[in-house]
Amino acid sequence: MLVLGIESSCDETGVALYDTERGLLAHHLHTQMAMHAEYGGVVPELASRDHIRRVVPLTEGVLQEAGVGYDDIDAVAFTQGPGLGGALLAGSGYANALAFALNKPVIPVHHLEGHLLSPLLADEKPEFPFVALLVSGGHTQFMAVRGIGDYTLLGESVDDAAGEAFDKTAKLLGLPYPGGAKLSELAKSGTPNAFAFPRPMLHSHDLQMSFSGLKTAVLTAVEKVRAETGSNKISGQTRNDICYAFQDAVVDVLVAKSKKALLDTGFRTLVVAGGVGANWKLRDEFSRLSVQMPSEKGKPKAEAVKVFFPPMAYCTDNGAMIAFAGAMRLQDRKQAAGFNVKPRWPLSDIVKA
Ligand code: KG4
Ligand code: ZN
Repeated sequence: MLVLGIESSCDETGVALYDTERGLLAHHLHTQMAMHAEYGGVVPELASRDHIRRVVPLTEGVLQEAGVGYDDIDAVAFTQGPGLGGALLAGSGYANALAFALNKPVIPVHHLEGHLLSPLLADEKPEFPFVALLVSGGHTQFMAVRGIGDYTLLGESVDDAAGEAFDKTAKLLGLPYPGGAKLSELAKSGTPNAFAFPRPMLHSHDLQMSFSGLKTAVLTAVEKVRAETGSNKISGQTRNDICYAFQDAVVDVLVAKSKKALLDTGFRTLVVAGGVGANWKLRDEFSRLSVQMPSEKGKPKAEAVKVFFPPMAYCTDNGAMIAFAGAMRLQDRKQAAGFNVKPRWPLSDIVKA
């Protein structure tokens, strides 16, 4: 079965072809980042218009690369939500029109399910059950994943998503939108312990998180530096040091909460998905992850944890994860197809396969 996947929830148009026998055949992406950078954030109307402009040429590109034609497509999957209403409608309209013209089924996909299943696109795949840490620009959530469509929310950020905190802090430091990746690059040259920022809700005894206060802590540090230097500009080593401390605080919280999620569920596999999953420090820390189990003699015993990341190209928004999630759901016709989009749509509301 050959599934065409269309992603258009925010500022990336992604189109891909996934074959249930041969795997991913092709995936093409157009990012609108440069267009929105001028405005310091995503402009929804511009995003919608650009998706409409890009989606047809991107589809032609993947068909050509895979050496197949429109008639070979067995189903069209698209991101139904969550995301920007207009941007979602652009993808939904195209997917529905194409599926109607080809007389093939259309499969609505939850954007976060796409992210959550994206590590299954790697050569080394995680096995169910696992804990998924979804860490993107819009969401920071822990899910217990027992199978396709079987997702239980364990905890989430009560305010800003981790990626949002990265982007807002980057903006505060004068970095161009979206600054998350750039901030983490600068952090590579930062000095450890030059600045110290709080680890919000680290000891909350649950899997809730909070990242909005961290941004305020950075602002306070920035204002102090400004007062000391008499300059409004934060640059050079000081900026790198702030980046380092900020990233350290976010990663610390994500690592500690991940350990708790693993202990709470008893699962020993962690899957990290979403844009912040591209972060080098997070990947580095998770590569050494283990959990401390209390043993019978009262001595804690370290247990190894397997951690899976999607391949780098599928960390941020892309069509491959939508084509893949669509293929997984192809047999599941319980899900109502349709033109409607769901800009707000909790993953735990998803229909079980
Ligand atoms: O999953 P994604 O592409 O879009 C959403 O569904 O939100 O994630 C985008 C987010 C942005 O906030 C971006 O700044 C962040 O992921 N991000 C990073 C890195 N690369 C992307 N954050 C930290 N370190 C990175 N290397
Ligand atoms: Zn995303």
